[in-house]
Amino acid sequence: MRPPRHAPSREGDFPVSTNLKNADLHARKNAATPRGVGVMCDFYAARAENAELWDVEGRRFIDFAAGIAVCNTGHRHPKIVEAIRAQLDCFTHTAYQIVPYESYVSLAEKISARAPGSHAKKTAFFTTGAEAVENAVKIARAATGRPGVIAFTGGFHGRTLMGMALTGKVAPYKIGFGPFPSDVYHAPFPNALHGVSVADSLRAIEHLFKADIEATRVAAIIFEPVQGEGGFNAAPADFVRGLRKICDEHGILLIADEVQTGFARTGKLFAMEHHGVVPDLMTIAKSLAGGMPLSGVVGRAEIMDAAAPGGLGGTYAGNPLAVAAAHAVLDIIDDEKLCERATVLGDKLKAKLEALKADVPQIADVRGPGAMIAVEFCKPGSHDADAAFAKLVQTRALERGLLLLVCGVYSNVVRFLFPLTIQEEVFDEAIGILEEVLMETVGAAV
Ligand SMILES: Cc1ncc(COP(=O)(O)O)c(C=O)c1O
Repeated sequence: MRPPRHAPSREGDFPVSTNLKNADLHARKNAATPRGVGVMCDFYAARAENAELWDVEGRRFIDFAAGIAVCNTGHRHPKIVEAIRAQLDCFTHTAYQIVPYESYVSLAEKISARAPGSHAKKTAFFTTGAEAVENAVKIARAATGRPGVIAFTGGFHGRTLMGMALTGKVAPYKIGFGPFPSDVYHAPFPNALHGVSVADSLRAIEHLFKADIEATRVAAIIFEPVQGEGGFNAAPADFVRGLRKICDEHGILLIADEVQTGFARTGKLFAMEHHGVVPDLMTIAKSLAGGMPLSGVVGRAEIMDAAAPGGLGGTYAGNPLAVAAAHAVLDIIDDEKLCERATVLGDKLKAKLEALKADVPQIADVRGPGAMIAVEFCKPGSHDADAAFAKLVQTRALERGLLLLVCGVYSNVVRFLFPLTIQEEVFDEAIGILEEVLMETVGAAV
């Protein structure tokens, strides 16, 4: 029998009866799949439940990666499993553009109603985050009749050609894959720790208008309210207001890429709610459907309608199983008050990391809204990135059964993406492992 949702699970509850061995699978993987699909772990998943997962050899891990910010509602939430099962009994695919279904329409109604801004909005669904970004750019170009897009250093927007062009981090995402679509420009993202002020960033956009592209040819400015892969750098409030002002002055559309920040991670349903600034378009994906592939673009109705019929969509876009999961996700976020829980858990983790600063001089910064928390490591007494320290922390945590992700332009940031449904006991266990690992790593480094 499955344990109650918030009770800690025990390994014994999930016997993993497999004869598979991680080492054998690793050898088969290397022979069968290209190295370009880089894989972080050398163990293979057999089963997962809420914030824990087990490998094929029965080893348990606490999952602070959550499928790269996808499982804010945990692995296999019973309500999501139930919703997908119920949809399986009806139909699994019709292609929405051929035979539509109510669940897509009602999900669009819910997302449009809950996205920032009281104006009329419309929502279209796709499959991946990169696809949402591609479509947001297509819509912005169709609506403005302009080609240019401005993005930011350290930003990440996906692995498709336009996604890569917009991404502001070369290695490993762009190396060897050019040429990229033209008319994409990058301005520096504000980063107080590394000496880039809000004024510097906003001035750099004005410089782009002088040096690279006239403002009247720019369709959109796209940014992440909190940069994800770039290191969990939150956009300061005056920067977000500044972007809105520049857009309004020049008839440019503001696109908030909420693929990683959305669905309660930052303590609000959408991170833009922290700023009271309304974007024209917003991209969503990842935790929208709790592990099922679903993404979307939501925005001002008249802008969303700029693309001609047939211009948007995709064979699998808005798949009914994924849409059913998304309805359940929205209910769970409300029922289990996950926005509030994100803030409570995030504050607890931040307090622990702040307290550890005294013993771990490599901790240069602890940051992030809600549960979108990261710790940045630098060489003691400086702002020189210490990627080796971050890597050691990640490796040692994994050896003890805690799955952590590294991010940042200099790969010196550890980010925490635990499911917001995590049981208190499992959360405390993970923080205990983190503390031990930090103390051990600082001991080795000094
Ligand atoms: C902000 C942001 N945009 C877009 C993407 C691309 O999403 P996907 O990997 O689903 O294509 C990501 C993925 O990490 C992301 O964090």
